Amino acid sequence: MDKENKFYQLTFAERLAWLREIGALSADEAAALSGAAGLTPAQADHMIENVVGTFALPLGIAQHFLINGKEVPIPMAIEEPSVVAAASFMAKLARAGGGFTASATAPEMIGQIQILDVDDLNAAAERLKSGADELLSLASSADPVLLKLGGGPRKIQIRKITASPIGPFLVLHLVMDVCDAMGANAINTALEGMTSAVERISGGRALLRILSNLADRRVAKARCSIPVEALAFNDFSGEDVRDRIIEAWAFAAADPYRAATHNKGIMNGVDAVVLATGNDWRAVEAGAHAYAARGGHYTSLSMWSKGAQGELVGELEMPMAVGLVGGATRVHPTASAAVKLMGVSTASELAQVIVSVGLAQNLGALRALATEGIQRGHMALHARQVAIAAGAPEEWVAPVAEQMVNEKQIRVDRAVEILEEWRTR
Ligand code: MEV
Repeated sequence: MDKENKFYQLTFAERLAWLREIGALSADEAAALSGAAGLTPAQADHMIENVVGTFALPLGIAQHFLINGKEVPIPMAIEEPSVVAAASFMAKLARAGGGFTASATAPEMIGQIQILDVDDLNAAAERLKSGADELLSLASSADPVLLKLGGGPRKIQIRKITASPIGPFLVLHLVMDVCDAMGANAINTALEGMTSAVERISGGRALLRILSNLADRRVAKARCSIPVEALAFNDFSGEDVRDRIIEAWAFAAADPYRAATHNKGIMNGVDAVVLATGNDWRAVEAGAHAYAARGGHYTSLSMWSKGAQGELVGELEMPMAVGLVGGATRVHPTASAAVKLMGVSTASELAQVIVSVGLAQNLGALRALATEGIQRGHMALHARQVAIAAGAPEEWVAPVAEQMVNEKQIRVDRAVEILEEWRTR
C-alpha cells in the first residue's frame, strides 16, 4: 500500500511488477500494457486497410480513484504531460469527500433514417407511428443475440425537419438498447433491415440510415463533493480555492470560447480512457460537444457549486457511447488488458468510470488555472519532451529539462544549444 501511494516514484518495470504482484494483471496482460507484446502487425492488418505499422502512445495509470466505493486503477493513453498526474491528484482530493458517485442511464442508442420525397409529412408521420410494431419487429430480427441478452429495439420516434436547405422532410429514430456494445453496427444493421418497410409505409425515399452520435439517451453522470479543508494549499484557503473554481466554471458556463477549452480539459481525461480501452473516441467527442450545445448555445459539460456545508460540489453529465464487446476492445490486447485492470464488467460501469475521470480532470485544470496557473507544473513536464525533441540521449533528458526550466527558456533551440555545450565540454 505504501508502494501504491508512491506509484509515480517507481520505475517503469517496478510499476508493472507491482501490478503483477497484487494480481491486477497476468504476465501476458502486463506484456500487452508494457509494449513488449500488444497489437501485432498481423492483428493490425485485419483491423484497417493499407496497414504499414502500429502507433504507440504512453499508457499511464491514474491512481486513487474511488468510484461508487470501489478502487479503480485508471489506464490512460495520452501524449500530453500532466494529465495522468492531475487525474491522480484530484482523485486523491475527491476521496476526502468519499470519492466519486457515478451512474448511467440504459445503453440506448439512436439510429436515424432520413425520409425524403414525402407528399404529406403529417400523414406519412402518422402512418409510420401506426406501423411502429412492424418496424420494431424488423429491427429485432437484425440481431437475435442482442435480444437474448435483454437488449434490442425499444421505440420508434418520428421527427419533422422543417427548416433545411432542401425543404422539409421526415426523420425516423430507432431507439435501441445495445447492452455492452458501443452499438454502431447493431443500429446500422437494424436500420438497413427496416428501409423498404419505411419507404412502403411513408411513401417516401429513405436516404441516410445511420447511427446518431448525439447519444443523449445514453448518458453517464459523476459527482464529487470535496470538503473545503481538503482544498487548501500554499497560501490559498480552502474557501478561496472553492470560490475560485466556481468562478472559473462560471466563465465556461457563460462563454463558448472558454467552454470549448474547459470541455477539452474534461476530454483529456475522457478520451485517454476511451482510447486505452479500445473505444471510438471520435464518437465520444462528437457526442460530448453536441450535448454541450443541446440548449442552443455551447456551454460547459460540468457544473461546480457550493454545497450546504460549504463543500465544493462538482457534477459532470455527458453521453458515453462506449462498449466492452465488438469494436477493438476485445481484439486489441492492450485494450483488453486495460479493461481487465479496471475490473469493469459492463459498458455501463466503464461509462461511469470514464465520466468520473473527466470530472477529476476538469477539477485539476480549474484548480490550477484559478490559483497558481498551469504553466509551472506543465512546463516542467513539457521541458522533457522538448529535450527529447532536441535529440537528448535518455540520461540527459531530465538534466537538460531542468536547466531549461531554471532558465525559463523551454524551447527546442535552447535544448540543442545546451546539448552542444555539454557535448563540447
Ligand atoms: C489543456 O490540455 C487543458 C486545459 O486548457 C483545460 C482548461 O483550460 O480547463 C488546461
